[in-house]
Amino acid sequence: MKTILFNRGVPATESFGIGEVTEAAQAALRAHGSALLQYGPSLGFAPLREWLAAHHGVGVEQVIVGNGSLQLLEFLCLTQVRSGDVVVTESPTYDRTLTLLRRHGARAVGVALDDDGPDLARLEAVLAAERPRFLYLIPDFQNPSGTTCSAEKRRRIVALTERDNLLLVEDAPYRPL
Ligand SMILES: Cc1ncc(COP(=O)(O)O)c(C=O)c1O
Repeated sequence: MKTILFNRGVPATESFGIGEVTEAAQAALRAHGSALLQYGPSLGFAPLREWLAAHHGVGVEQVIVGNGSLQLLEFLCLTQVRSGDVVVTESPTYDRTLTLLRRHGARAVGVALDDDGPDLARLEAVLAAERPRFLYLIPDFQNPSGTTCSAEKRRRIVALTERDNLLLVEDAPYRPL
């Protein structure tokens, strides 16, 4: 019997491309060994930041590389959240993010999910009632519901956040799937 964990995006062990990762690590070490093994700049390894910037069509100064999503969310909370602040999330959402928000004293207000993303009427009502620090969404294969936000809803959510000058935090680990 196989257990499927619904709280984490734990990959199937048999899906790991160990041969490809070994080759990539060897190539990277040959090309950039000293820089990779030495303490590096706090924003991350420059060639990786440049690649990410080109991939996402943004300036390299807008890219920071962290050690996994939780470190970056921690940085975000350290700089954005004061105890008592509201952060709007989907409901349900990723349990680790909720733990982190609570540790920073934030109150997570959840917006129910439809099959095509957050319930927009509810989102608008929450935005009108609260003054959130940011909106945290997992738009692709949402954890734990599995829903993917429609293009139309994404456009409307962006319009709402622009209207309210609200920071939109997109956690998108499953987009490349
Ligand atoms: C929405 C979401 N974000 C982030 C992560 C984990 O990302 P990382 O491995 O970068 O910490 C998970 C893992 O389950 C997740 O579901």
